[in-house]
Amino acid sequence: MAELADESVRPRSLDDFIGQDALRANMRVYLDAALERGKALDHTLFCGNPGLGKTTLAQIMASELSVNLVCTSGPVLERSGDLAAILTSLGRHDILFVDEIHRMPIAVEEVLYPAMEDFKLDLVIGQGPAARTVKIDLEPFTLVGATTRMGLLSSPLRDRFGIVSRLEFYSPEDLARIVQRTAGILGVEVTGTGAAEIGRRSRGTPRIANRLLRRVRDFALVHGSGQITEDAAIAALKRMDVDEQGLDPMDRKLLDILINHYEGGPVGIRTLAAACSEEVRTLEDIYEPYLIQCGFLRRTPRGRMATLKAYQHLGLLR
Ligand SMILES: Nc1ncnc2c1ncn2[C@@H]1O[C@H](COP(=O)(O)OP(=O)(O)O)[C@@H](O)[C@H]1O
Ligand SMILES: [Mg+2]
Repeated sequence: MAELADESVRPRSLDDFIGQDALRANMRVYLDAALERGKALDHTLFCGNPGLGKTTLAQIMASELSVNLVCTSGPVLERSGDLAAILTSLGRHDILFVDEIHRMPIAVEEVLYPAMEDFKLDLVIGQGPAARTVKIDLEPFTLVGATTRMGLLSSPLRDRFGIVSRLEFYSPEDLARIVQRTAGILGVEVTGTGAAEIGRRSRGTPRIANRLLRRVRDFALVHGSGQITEDAAIAALKRMDVDEQGLDPMDRKLLDILINHYEGGPVGIRTLAAACSEEVRTLEDIYEPYLIQCGFLRRTPRGRMATLKAYQHLGLLR
């Protein structure tokens, strides 16, 4: 259901994709060059926090190049045979999108190296002394990888991507434009200041902007005229417990625990995760990046520390 909701508002072309100006301009060049040369686009790696547009970009690339998009993800590819089956099914210049590519098992990853480099597959047939390898030719294809954690990618894999693009958090202005665009698609009326208010509190993330917009729309429908004004947005976000900085109850709980149970740190991520009843990966992928970006949290060699700004934000300093 959530995925379906996402699909209806997902940009279909590069021109519909808002923000990330440098990345977008470069991608336009790479796409045009690939079309001009009649070759498969170079293998591309997108790195960035969840909800910033990695999957969207993969879909846009396939549609701009008029090729098929085949989607899978690192954790799903358990055995090298799984990947081999997908690779041999690809058509000329198709795009294979591997989400969370840093979670692909190493044995599977090794199948990718010759495939990426020479469009060849080394298959082992039979077992024991009778085993032999055969080389299979693949159609030229483009691998598009997405990862939230560039640092967890092995360097042989990283080095085989010709294009490596990092997605940054979006500016409040870009997020306001995304809110306006999505509102248009959903048939929701939103004022400029209403969109700005939602954009400002979306943690730099389009997926969150779209989610907040839907919920604010519900409040505006039930408690108001249905139009999302600045006041309507502020009232709804207050009901949803999203504060002026876009922090939600979990963000504030994390800072609160760090400050009130551990004297502001430094404290190790595992301890912090246990105290928050969250998984380490969730803290690292979802919560920390934005808290660090806003300057509420610092990552030090000895652990996580709350900043002065965090104390101020929680109203602990006067
Ligand atoms: N640049 C953008 N412009 C407009 N909407 C966007 C943009 N980037 C992402 N979105 C929206 O945010 C949602 C999440 O994007 P997605 O590509 O699924 O993120 P990721 O794969 O990085 O987690 C999409 O449904 C899309 O509607
Ligand atoms: Mg995705």
